[in-house]
Amino acid sequence: MKIYRARVFTPISDPFAGNAAGSYRSHDDGFVAVGDDGRIAATGAWGDQPAGGEIIDLGHDVLLSPGFIDTHLHAPQLEMIGSYGGHLLEWLNRYTFPTEAKFSDAEHAARVARALYDELLRNGTLCALIFSTIHPRATEIFFEEAERRGFRGIIGKTMMDRNAPEFLLETPRDSYDQSRALLKAWHGRGLLRYAVTPRFAPTSTPELLELAGDLKREFPDVWVHSHISENPHEVAWVHELFPEAEYADVYDQYGLLGPKTVLAHGVHLTAEEIDLLSRRGARIAHCPNSNLFLGSGLFRLQAMLGAGVIVGLGSDIGAGTTPSMFNAMSDAYKVQQVQGIALSPFHLWYLATLGGARALSLESETGSLEKGKSADMIALDLRATPLVAMRSARASSLEDLLAGLIFMGDDRAVKQAWIAGRSVWSAH
Ligand code: GUN
Ligand code: ZN
Repeated sequence: MKIYRARVFTPISDPFAGNAAGSYRSHDDGFVAVGDDGRIAATGAWGDQPAGGEIIDLGHDVLLSPGFIDTHLHAPQLEMIGSYGGHLLEWLNRYTFPTEAKFSDAEHAARVARALYDELLRNGTLCALIFSTIHPRATEIFFEEAERRGFRGIIGKTMMDRNAPEFLLETPRDSYDQSRALLKAWHGRGLLRYAVTPRFAPTSTPELLELAGDLKREFPDVWVHSHISENPHEVAWVHELFPEAEYADVYDQYGLLGPKTVLAHGVHLTAEEIDLLSRRGARIAHCPNSNLFLGSGLFRLQAMLGAGVIVGLGSDIGAGTTPSMFNAMSDAYKVQQVQGIALSPFHLWYLATLGGARALSLESETGSLEKGKSADMIALDLRATPLVAMRSARASSLEDLLAGLIFMGDDRAVKQAWIAGRSVWSAH
């Protein structure tokens, strides 16, 4: 057993449910004991640690937190971050599709995969729901590299068969067969899981969505990952392509909405659609940085949570401009601020950790530092930069300390990271 001594902070329940003050645990001088099985054996105040075990004293300037969870990102888009100008549909055609075409080359995919997990781990993101491209080999490479790094990921091959350049289209049957083969090979292997991943309704024929639904019916345990109602032009286009239904109904008609469905954005959903998502148990990945970068709109968090829809935070690389979940928290705060709602650091940290785990249906395994869960944790340096040190030193409360990290923290604050008790990143 290893016993890490440091400041400890962890969300333990949903602060949006009412009792924000009771939604976390913190110890000014605390410990996390990690068993040889990679699970948390105990956590608490220093002095109450179990006897025996190797003590690793991280010091009082280190805060142990659950690792961050990114509920939506595109692995192949890492290299095109900051491709500016134009709203979603222009951005897809101008930059995204040509970038994704390059993933027919396995060497290119391997290069980007290495860079991706470096970036995620360096930023303290220890679990993510990930889009690949349509290419089976590239998808396999994203799985292989995740496995090599000990990363906890849910990954899927993008499915698309219309309204994109020829070089990114496939037949529905090939898409189904290749997705199925990847699912069989990777779903449930170590920390890896599979997501059936139709890109979004506009690049899908009814036949493709039908086959995606077939896969989900055949393997009910897998995830479904897609996009919904990010941009008003996109919503109007879906109404043209599927005149009989609202956007959310399109996915519902093909059996694609359930508790393991994670849809990115949902900025322009109607009250009826939000109600449908809630009844089906589907989840939303809120990606504030991306919504601002593409000018997509302002996410109505209260409407979503009020209807009972579970929400996580996503970077949405490469429309989002950084893998940092500090930034996702900071931008989520600002998107609510301009709508007259001030989220507390406890609400924001919850969304980036335990809330993300709930959005991905992984909360029994990860998302908080609690006994029995996998030791997926990060050591944050409260003196990471001169400015962060100055801000931490004057923090008047735990809440204030977290606020300093949320708004000023970045990858320099992440000293070390562990997944299932294994060190997967160290700053030195
Ligand atoms: N909708 C469909 N594809 C994409 C994508 O790659 N990025 C974003 N932000 N939205 C999408
Ligand atoms: Zn996306």
